[in-house]
Amino acid sequence: MLDKRNELNAWDRDHFFHPSTHMGMHARGETPTRVISSAEGVYITDTSGKKSLDAFAGLYCVNVGYGRQKIADAIAEQAKNLAYYHAYVGHGTEASITLSKMIIDRAPEGMSRVYFGLSGSDANETNIKLIWYYNNILGRPEKKKIISRWRGYHGSGVMTGSLTGLELFHKAFDLPRAPILHTEAPYYFRRADRSMSEEQFAQHCADKLEEMILAEGPDTVAAFIGEPILGTGGIVPPAKTYWQKTQAVLDKYDILLVADEVVTGFGRLGTMFGSDHYGMKPDLITIAKGLTSAYAPLSGSIVSDKMWQVLVQGSDQLGAIGHGWTYSAHPICAAAGIANLELVDELGIVENAGSTGAYFRSELAKAVGGHKHVGEVRGDGLMAAIEFVEDKDDRKFFDPAQKIGPQVAAALLERGVIGRAMPQGDILGFAPPLCLTREEADTVVKAAAGAIDSVLSGR
Ligand SMILES: Cc1ncc(COP(=O)(O)O)c(C=O)c1O
Repeated sequence: MLDKRNELNAWDRDHFFHPSTHMGMHARGETPTRVISSAEGVYITDTSGKKSLDAFAGLYCVNVGYGRQKIADAIAEQAKNLAYYHAYVGHGTEASITLSKMIIDRAPEGMSRVYFGLSGSDANETNIKLIWYYNNILGRPEKKKIISRWRGYHGSGVMTGSLTGLELFHKAFDLPRAPILHTEAPYYFRRADRSMSEEQFAQHCADKLEEMILAEGPDTVAAFIGEPILGTGGIVPPAKTYWQKTQAVLDKYDILLVADEVVTGFGRLGTMFGSDHYGMKPDLITIAKGLTSAYAPLSGSIVSDKMWQVLVQGSDQLGAIGHGWTYSAHPICAAAGIANLELVDELGIVENAGSTGAYFRSELAKAVGGHKHVGEVRGDGLMAAIEFVEDKDDRKFFDPAQKIGPQVAAALLERGVIGRAMPQGDILGFAPPLCLTREEADTVVKAAAGAIDSVLSGR
């Protein structure tokens, strides 16, 4: 076993190009390789036998938890009966058609069709193309700019990496590309003017957006994209009334709204969709992770009836839509999606995300909120973050070179719990499987308190 582990480590360092990894340090063996071999419930186990409570559900995606037989059986059955057929020129499979119906049944009002992809990134690429197509069909070829937010995360492609508002994803990649613009994030804790109330700050964000639209020319702005709650940008719930105020600006200038629900879709905030949770009225919704709980790669763009009517006019004018992926609506992934959404209902995990999420966040705040280096404990549903500061009264942040966030995440792992050091700021994030129990939440809270003490006491 040890020989096998050593061999895997060597192959890993020599041949595997990992995403979001320091390439040189990894190849030189300066950072640890962790090879995960099995998982059950909320726990993962590596090849050395170490077990960890995964309080980030992989990458906030394993919503129903690991090891669900029902999904494994559905995948195996589908692979045996029909491993693949494409969805071009009107072809479908029982699995892909059934899943599209299940998604629309669960989606917010006014949604009509689902275009399937494989990742959140490709679904957002589809969204941008559909928006451009839509405005061309409507005879508005100038209306093409997309406004995103700083700290938004929408993927890693050329277009979606441009939509993403995180420096790390732009640096040395020649991104962002036109016609993408970024406006202010509704990040109340980091507001520049600390005298503002939450509602005043929400108004300020809506005003900034309106200023940008007017400066660019409303006839050139096609759409606004946002996650209901910022995820990778720091797990930041929107300032109160932000979405109502933002929606009013978008409606005024006939600008489409894309709700990127890759993280929030299918229950994470204690409602089926984050759009319903915050009162957003999207024209397109991006879904991925929770659609299959990551048992198979599958994403989707949910298209509103308003957009669909125009897209149909488009093919009447231009013929079949020139947009397709080989694996769109892959039947094995669709079978996983059906079994997963059935499990979401059977286990009642949407409700659990609301109730256990509220318990978890309140216990976390009780345990660490008073620490002198904890600036804020925040979140919604089963998403939570702890933001560290050097000085609480002055809201002075640590020098990023000290890597406080990664150090706390490492100390947490030593205590048997996985959290995520969010990429921009000293922020420890949690987004556990939605089947988390209160006892498991207690385990996470206890480990977080211990990790924070170990890294930050005496500073
Ligand atoms: C909100 C959001 N959109 C899009 C994506 C991109 O999804 P993928 O990594 O599947 O391409 C992510 C990934 O974390 C995400 O959080």
